Amino acid sequence: MLANYLNEHKERFLNELFELLRIPSISADSAYKNEVVKAAEFIKEKLVKAGADAVEICPTAGHPIVYGEKIIDPSLPTVLVYGHYDVQPAVPLELWDTPPFEPQVRKTAIHPDGAIFARGACDDKGQVYMHVKAFEMMMAENTLPCNVKFMIEGEEEVGSTHLGSFCIANKEKLKADVVLISDTSIMANDTPSIDCGLRGLSYVEVEVTGPNRDLHSGVYGGAVANPINILAKMIASMHDENNHITIPGFYEKVQELSTKERELLNMAPFDLEAYQKDLGIDAVWGENGFNVLERTGIRPTLDCNGIWGGYIGEGAKTVLPSKAFAKISMRLVPNQTSDEITALFKNHFESIAPAGVKVEVRPHHGGEPVVTPIDSKAYKAAEKAMEKTFGKMPIPTRGGGSIPIVALFERELGLKSVLMGFGLDSDALHSPNEHYGLFNYYKGIETIPYFFTYFAEAE
Ligand code: BES
Ligand code: MN
Ligand code: MN
Repeated sequence: MLANYLNEHKERFLNELFELLRIPSISADSAYKNEVVKAAEFIKEKLVKAGADAVEICPTAGHPIVYGEKIIDPSLPTVLVYGHYDVQPAVPLELWDTPPFEPQVRKTAIHPDGAIFARGACDDKGQVYMHVKAFEMMMAENTLPCNVKFMIEGEEEVGSTHLGSFCIANKEKLKADVVLISDTSIMANDTPSIDCGLRGLSYVEVEVTGPNRDLHSGVYGGAVANPINILAKMIASMHDENNHITIPGFYEKVQELSTKERELLNMAPFDLEAYQKDLGIDAVWGENGFNVLERTGIRPTLDCNGIWGGYIGEGAKTVLPSKAFAKISMRLVPNQTSDEITALFKNHFESIAPAGVKVEVRPHHGGEPVVTPIDSKAYKAAEKAMEKTFGKMPIPTRGGGSIPIVALFERELGLKSVLMGFGLDSDALHSPNEHYGLFNYYKGIETIPYFFTYFAEAE
């Protein structure tokens, strides 16, 4: 019985995850390159131990990809499990209650049974490791009902830079019937849900240059354009009084949902008061005419992610800076594309720059939005598996985040994905004090084998 196996090995399953969480595999920071490799080696070793074949660390021009498989019968269906072992940077460290790479279990209001606090606990090491342990269980109990392939990458948090070409170069090796991903959220621990859509992403960095050097703000202030003042105004102008984005053409390709689809989206129970309380805000903000679920699920957005320039040291320095910078993200929905939106942004941003400054827009990585089917065998298997272990039918939802590679799986490998995630949006992904509920970790390990069973039965 898998339930017995899980119970007997609960502690070890947690200790192993702790080991993985202790490796600071920060993909964005080259100082951690070796740590990223260590995390890949850890995953490789555990896959081998669990009984996977052909396990290898595939080098790329960036961070490596861990591949492994168990083909029990080529005539049976194959599930390709995708996830990432890299994590976001942990800064600012002083905002963590306990160090980000020293995992610790603590109780919270939302996780009364305890949650694992560490960078990557939820996004995505905890969720990836559920798959490794679910696989171990199925192998140990001889209940793996179909074939499985694992592709766990180390560059998701930096835009999956090299995974696309890896997929294109390894189409045969990656042949499967569906991609199974646990890197998203459920609505609440008593409200299972499955994301059936993810937003895309356009990300740009902008630079505004005024005078050719920093100036005395008394001698020159008022007579020379201040890049910070200008940049702040330019960014502020990108939302109108209804909080619509003002870039011409920005909404042109946005797919409007039918009344029925919108109703379905709003069937998800959403507690506005709890949402505000969790975030310490007294009101939500956003595009007029849409509620929170719609604003994060089916509407595109524009947010400044960082802004800097001038003097930010101790005390006062009266300076009119030469330059100001900002990083800006735009979340996209079907049928917007990242190239088109980035181009629209660039044109608009350049066009609103007043005389006296120069602006430069530098595009970063992007990703396309996706909608995954809810009538497929794989989605239904996930639905049934969650219903089995949560005792409730999961609700189809839309995730606000992005996993850019999902669109590529569809385009290049012809594979649809099922986003069977187990985190909570409130688990502080990318924030200080990221955590993952023990309930969620074990629930995932318990649910995944049911997915395999129901999927294999249906095929
Ligand atoms: N796992 C997240 C995406 C996510 C989180 C989707 C919660 C749905 C719900 C993923 O690791 C992530 O953070 N993606 C980045 C995109 C990437 C290009 C840096 C994102 O959404 O910002
Ligand atoms: Mn993730
Ligand atoms: Mn992430």
